Amino acid sequence: MRIIAIANQKGGCGKTTTSVNLAVALAEKSKRTLIVDFDPQGHSTIGLGYDPDKLSKTIYDALMKAQIGLSNIIVDTKVERLDLAPSNVLLSGAEIELVSVVGREFVLTERLKTIKDKYDICVIDCPPSLSLLTLNALVASTDVIVPVQVHYYAMEGLKQLFETAGIIREHLRPCEVKILGLLLTFVDKTTLLSKQTQKQMREYFGDLVFDTVIHRSVRLAEAPSTGEPIFTYAPESRSAAEYRALAEEIINGKTSTEQKVNGEASVEQIINDEALSEQKIEGQALVRRQ
Ligand SMILES: Nc1ncnc2c1ncn2[C@@H]1O[C@H](COP(=O)(O)OP(=O)(O)OP(=O)(O)O)[C@@H](O)[C@H]1O
Ligand SMILES: [Mg+2]
Repeated sequence: MRIIAIANQKGGCGKTTTSVNLAVALAEKSKRTLIVDFDPQGHSTIGLGYDPDKLSKTIYDALMKAQIGLSNIIVDTKVERLDLAPSNVLLSGAEIELVSVVGREFVLTERLKTIKDKYDICVIDCPPSLSLLTLNALVASTDVIVPVQVHYYAMEGLKQLFETAGIIREHLRPCEVKILGLLLTFVDKTTLLSKQTQKQMREYFGDLVFDTVIHRSVRLAEAPSTGEPIFTYAPESRSAAEYRALAEEIINGKTSTEQKVNGEASVEQIINDEALSEQKIEGQALVRRQ
């Protein structure tokens, strides 16, 4: 089972929107897919039509009460082949309770092992922090997708996230997590700033940036309140096509060994590149001033 964490400690950059719509697109492409809502805000849970306050069992129970078992908290969705491990505010308690657990970074890894034959792909919607929950998600994952909102502070926090992935690989074995790609979100072709930020991101991060970008879209913003993914809310929209293209890129494009190796090399290069924190952020500031 391939496990893809959607992570960026920056809030509101499109993690949940990407998790939900990517998961649906993967399921549409015949992949047996599980989405793990790993955020106490429960936004993926809401986006797939569940009320977080009315759930009898959530990912919190699977995480903190080993006897319950992950398969017992998983619910189905309206989408064929897509299941959900739902979440609600109780998950914030796990953040504190996990601190005293032996092997606290590996709890989600252990739980996911129990269902690995049931699904082809698992997508994890991470909270907006580099917390113990996010660490659990990263350690459990084979890949990370980082949604990046193309705006003033697009690069903020990326270096820290890359470093965290590197530290995890180095110190928390066995763990092979790789940054699969940066996904540009809230792209707006009508603004110069969006165009420049996009260009800059491609210059700095090269192949690590997905070809697919997600444009700013009212439909995408409206969909969660209806409990529907974009594919049923606005099936013919550009956003639906974009998330389909992203799923395609993930299934076909970004999985080759060559690309992984290249991607890996560029991540290491970027981490070691002082410019990312110095000039490049300054470059960002230049864009900001225009
Ligand atoms: N491409 C887009 N165009 C317009 N609105 C969007 C787009 N992507 C997401 N949104 C909206 O922006 C808000 C933030 O998106 P989302 O919840 O996906 O971000 P997030 O990274 O999961 O946030 P958090 O850090 O709080 O978990 C939501 O209201 C969502 O509907
Ligand atoms: Mg979210």
